[in-house]
Amino acid sequence: MSSEKSDNASADGSGAMFDQIAADYDRLNRILSFGMDTGWRKWVAKQLSERSPNPKALLDVACGTGDLAISLREVFADPPIVGLDPSEGMLRHALKKDDRSGYLQGDGRLLPFADNSFSIVTVAFGIRNIRPREKAFAEFRRVLQPGGIVAILELCQEKRGLSGWLARIHTRFVVPILGGAFARSDAYRYLQTSIAEFPGPGEFAEELKENGLEVMLQKPFGLGAARLFLCRV
Ligand SMILES: C[S@@+](CC[C@H](N)C(=O)[O-])C[C@H]1O[C@@H](n2cnc3c(N)ncnc32)[C@H](O)[C@@H]1O
Repeated sequence: MSSEKSDNASADGSGAMFDQIAADYDRLNRILSFGMDTGWRKWVAKQLSERSPNPKALLDVACGTGDLAISLREVFADPPIVGLDPSEGMLRHALKKDDRSGYLQGDGRLLPFADNSFSIVTVAFGIRNIRPREKAFAEFRRVLQPGGIVAILELCQEKRGLSGWLARIHTRFVVPILGGAFARSDAYRYLQTSIAEFPGPGEFAEELKENGLEVMLQKPFGLGAARLFLCRV
């Protein structure tokens, strides 16, 4: 499958790479998404609360600085929410911003939880960094209760058509100019190549299905720059 690349912990996209940009990460997200990324996460959280109003517990894989866990907490007042990420630097920021959820250092390919522990697993802008993705998908299935939901928000862009063209303009020109100006340029070169290498929406939906995750809903954001895949196991 297309995600068979590297298991190397020091590779691009790893927790070690994110440690180096953790201090700038939130600011850069706002700049590169023209302030839209916060609204995308809130939309995901609201959609989940409508589909699963009383979840047992929620897991946010590749939680980074905690922005999705914080949006989830806005709509899910009571259930435990756990954010997991390998980057100590990113988690430090999450803990500073949010004391209402639990944060844990770990790898999405080897989740430190018992089977059937969660009703919802989310990943925002993280699945691109986890390789091979199949290992993470198998873990999501294992820790979810039967009928559980996986929400994946990713910079997954059409390869053709107007929205593909607009997304490529953003990735090729806006990301390196703004990313290079405000942060380490190698990290933003990685962002550029990893977006280009990520499968398009149709191919990714097929990959999810092959891995036991049936897509119930796809929703593009930001003129097709990002896309939500809402799946059931
Ligand atoms: C682009 S950030 C996304 C952060 C956050 N979810 C958000 O919405 O802003 C990607 C995150 O993936 C994490 N990551 C990298 N490899 C991972 C792995 N094997 N398992 C889980 N997370 C991983 C990185 O440490 C980083 O925090």
